[in-house]
Amino acid sequence: MAKSKTIFYCNNCGHQSGKWIGKCPACNEWNTFVEEVILKDKTLVKKGAVKSVPTAINDIKSDREERINTNSIELNRVLGGGLVLGSIVLFGGEPGIGKSTLLLQVALNLPDKKILYISGEESQQQIRIRANRIGINNDECYLLNETSTEVVFKHCDDVAPDIIIIDSIQTLHTDIIDSSPGSISQIRETTSQLLQYAKTTNIPVLLIGHITKDGNLAGPKVLEHMVDTVLQFEGDRHYGFRILRSVKNRFGSTSELGIYEMVSNGLREVINPSEILLSNRENRASGVTIAAMVEGQRPLLIETQALTGTAAYGTPQRSSTGFDLRRLNMLLAVLEKRAGYRLSSKDVFLNIAGGIKVDDPAIDMAVAAAIISSFEDVEIAPNICFAGEIGLSGEIRTVSHVENRISEAEKLGFKRIVLSSYGIKNITIKNTSLDIIPVSNISELIDVLY
Ligand code: TYD
Ligand code: MG
Repeated sequence: MAKSKTIFYCNNCGHQSGKWIGKCPACNEWNTFVEEVILKDKTLVKKGAVKSVPTAINDIKSDREERINTNSIELNRVLGGGLVLGSIVLFGGEPGIGKSTLLLQVALNLPDKKILYISGEESQQQIRIRANRIGINNDECYLLNETSTEVVFKHCDDVAPDIIIIDSIQTLHTDIIDSSPGSISQIRETTSQLLQYAKTTNIPVLLIGHITKDGNLAGPKVLEHMVDTVLQFEGDRHYGFRILRSVKNRFGSTSELGIYEMVSNGLREVINPSEILLSNRENRASGVTIAAMVEGQRPLLIETQALTGTAAYGTPQRSSTGFDLRRLNMLLAVLEKRAGYRLSSKDVFLNIAGGIKVDDPAIDMAVAAAIISSFEDVEIAPNICFAGEIGLSGEIRTVSHVENRISEAEKLGFKRIVLSSYGIKNITIKNTSLDIIPVSNISELIDVLY
């Protein structure tokens, strides 16, 4: 019987220590150390079996890495052109966002590939019911209920799948370690076993990883270092839209984005998002503006809505969906200080259409214009869109991918676009029918609005 050994791990960064410490020396977080019992089985450690060989870089074959076409435009895009053989892809996201649905759909959508879908969370019947709902059929999709990696690898050898899907990494455990499934040491060990399996057999592995709202659960953070690609599945559960974002990708760009909509038969790919996000433009009201955004490489026109009103209960309320509240407060302060709008006594509500969370700072100008429009109760013409970041002194800053934004706006029938006057000096805009309005600060923006 091997001697049991305990080790302390930092919940935040995975740093190890022989004893409990209050402050992690690696990431400086307090109170993050947890104790875990480790039982390394000495018999499993083979001695002297050296298989690896150093090879000169020029002797290594570098044929274009082989990729599997996932039959999904959005997923291929986010992966950088398909699933690379032997790679490990982690899909992270909050519970209920649709991770299992997405990967089951991927499995069913590949009729010429053999898939092994391993679930430690749902029974085979439950997955079958979901597959019925999705309504696609793949005879070569095998379901397995298993949580032990040793057994999983045995089944993988028998089935010889082209792709392995694991739902989720938190339910897997290996017998080598004595701690419970989902603990840091288990996640680390099972992932490294999977990594080794994927690299030696060249079978790609798709992993699901949970992230809780408070971020307490260790796992995905430690995992991110080990896997090849990390994709984040996000969106507001009450809206239909889901965004698949690439956070890390050893085989492609990290600025790519996939957009899906959750419907009654699974996730539908949204190939042209702007048209949906701008659906009811006939219904005009004050406080509504359109932002010409770029998420990843992809232009996206999005509606922003603001509502200002006199604060009824002393302290004014500020609320925002899809936009950072601190950034909203900053924009309100800039509008008050630089343009004289008395917003400090007003309630301000802000909403980005479709429940999509935007990162692009270019939305600032559309948000400011929506607030001004609601404050003055003046409608903004529906054929105008905005792209510009606002600085603390009220200046409008230039944004990236200006040409992309212009061509998308033109495609969707807009007539005018408001841009930073600094940005358009450096670019040459050819053959666009769009009227480009340059502004350099908030007061010029206000002049454009009226
Ligand atoms: P699920 O994939 O189980 O989420 P996760 O694995 O990330 O926890 O699905 C989440 C939600 O998706 C579930 O509440 C129901 C909904 N859903 C649909 O709206 N339509 C569908 O066709 C399916 C399969 C699920
Ligand atoms: Mg699930």
